Amino acid sequence: MSRVKLIVGNWKMNGSFAANTTLLSALTAVPAVKIIVAPPFVYLASSYAQLTDSTIELAAQNVASEAQQGAYTGEVSALMLAELGAKYVIVGHSERRQYYGETDALVAQKCLRLQEAGLKPIICVGETLAEREAGQVEMVVSRQLKAVIDSCGIDLLAQAVIAYEPVWAIGTGKTATPNDAQAVHQFLRQLVTIYDKNIAEKLSILYGGSVKADNAASLFAMPDIDGALVGGASLIANDFLAICHAANASYVG
Ligand code: PGA
Repeated sequence: MSRVKLIVGNWKMNGSFAANTTLLSALTAVPAVKIIVAPPFVYLASSYAQLTDSTIELAAQNVASEAQQGAYTGEVSALMLAELGAKYVIVGHSERRQYYGETDALVAQKCLRLQEAGLKPIICVGETLAEREAGQVEMVVSRQLKAVIDSCGIDLLAQAVIAYEPVWAIGTGKTATPNDAQAVHQFLRQLVTIYDKNIAEKLSILYGGSVKADNAASLFAMPDIDGALVGGASLIANDFLAICHAANASYVG
């Protein structure tokens, strides 16, 4: 089945009011492509205001795991993000797993909070270089995904997006070959099929890790690659739009 391509711009800890205004005003809708941008928390409200008349949707980059309110200094809850206009939240990004010690269990707990608030998780999974070299890719990504399914139930995936992001490809300029990425995407879809075939067929599985205008088309040509989670290239309007146009070109209706 053909799924509409989804391109998510993960701005990470980048941007300023001035830079965001310029970037967002340069982003235009692209046919057959759904576009989401994920600014830092503090820019969600201003980005939402700027995108009022746009089909571009908003994601947050993180969410509190424990509760929707209470004594959790420095945290931002799912309900607060929903109030700010976010529709999606990135969870389990490898930078959070690596630098902030986020475990599979914590990622699953964050997904529960999103479920309560009616927000859609963009669940990141992916192996390190050492894990790939040890032949553990399928073991790692299935462990990461099953932790979420076990806590939240398979129905969550009817509302969710999965992003396969090999850790060694993020921000390094190294991309998985389209065939290597396709193999993991197919594996993930088959894993979900075991639980629910209908959800698996509709599920968007994005690739992330050094996606650029010049490698996007070959990735999007793969049957189980439904779009991209884009870091660095999402900060430059022309580069990001070129990736969106490559997604549109690959759409077969
Ligand atoms: P990158 O980041 O495109 O800069 O490699 C991707 C990501 O971390 O989501």
